[in-house]
Amino acid sequence: MTLREYLSERIDRVERALERWVPGEDVEPVTMHRAMRYSLFAGGKRVRPVLCLAAAEVIDAGSTGVEDAAVTLEMIHTYSLIHDDLPALDNDDLRRGRPTNHKVFGEAMAILAGDSLLTLAFEVLARLEGAGAERRVALVRELATASGTVGGMIGGQVHDMEGERQRPTAELLERIHRAKTGALLRASVRMGAIYAGASAEDLAALTTYGEHAGLAFQIVDDVLDIEESSQALGKTAGKDVDQQKITFPAVYGLAESKRMAEDERKAAHAALERFGPRAERLREIADLIVDRKS
Ligand code: IPE
Ligand code: IPE
Ligand code: MG
Ligand code: MG
Ligand code: MG
Repeated sequence: MTLREYLSERIDRVERALERWVPGEDVEPVTMHRAMRYSLFAGGKRVRPVLCLAAAEVIDAGSTGVEDAAVTLEMIHTYSLIHDDLPALDNDDLRRGRPTNHKVFGEAMAILAGDSLLTLAFEVLARLEGAGAERRVALVRELATASGTVGGMIGGQVHDMEGERQRPTAELLERIHRAKTGALLRASVRMGAIYAGASAEDLAALTTYGEHAGLAFQIVDDVLDIEESSQALGKTAGKDVDQQKITFPAVYGLAESKRMAEDERKAAHAALERFGPRAERLREIADLIVDRKS
């Protein structure tokens, strides 16, 4: 199977699981379910759930039902995007190639749509059928920590917002990026591994992979914001300079940022050595994260 075929098959599985878990547009309150679905089914790359599936496959190729855990990452991620775009945060009007959630549904509904996706993610984990109680608790903890304030997504968003008024330094940059994007990507890999019953050693190696892939992901997000068009990205390009964000290019320049993304790719690959050919898909996904154009 080519990587393209692999991704398309796994993304299909993720779409079907999302479809199963998210209430339909005819379910009351219909405005809320329309708003949640509007952002969820707008053509995101699904990097986090795919990482989760691929990590589970490294540990146990026969494990089933992991897509139900994987979609919770996409729910949290989509909620974070809806809130990231709000006027009070980045104030964006384009996301996933469409007007942002608050542009279509208004701020109140956009805030509630984010809240709803966040809440639904934990309901789904609590109801997972493919994992026993102990693993379900471990998954809940993993997702909550990665989304939270201490080194997690919200913590990173706070530093990112406060950073707009601060001088860009390497320390602040690292703190922002590890948390706001890195934590959820790391958790994506870890949740797949935990679901599939990874040993402590395997989990540690995959965690290292997830940390490097996660950092690479945000470096590239910052580079693309400068180099690509809004059309290619499906979101407003050039926002970071406008809003004086603390980004990799702002601190290190474009060329050095690209070099750093390469270092992260190599480190991500190196972390997979113990798995041999079993981890080929994870290697390819790290490549995709660095080489992507959107
Ligand atoms: C964008 O994430 C926001 C960041 C955390 C950098 P993605 O690039 O994964 O966005 P989608 O899900 O494909 O829209
Ligand atoms: C957002 O980072 C990270 C989140 C937690 C949503 P950015 O503000 O860089 O994401 P984009 O560039 O708007 O997608
Ligand atoms: Mg932001
Ligand atoms: Mg933003
Ligand atoms: Mg960005």
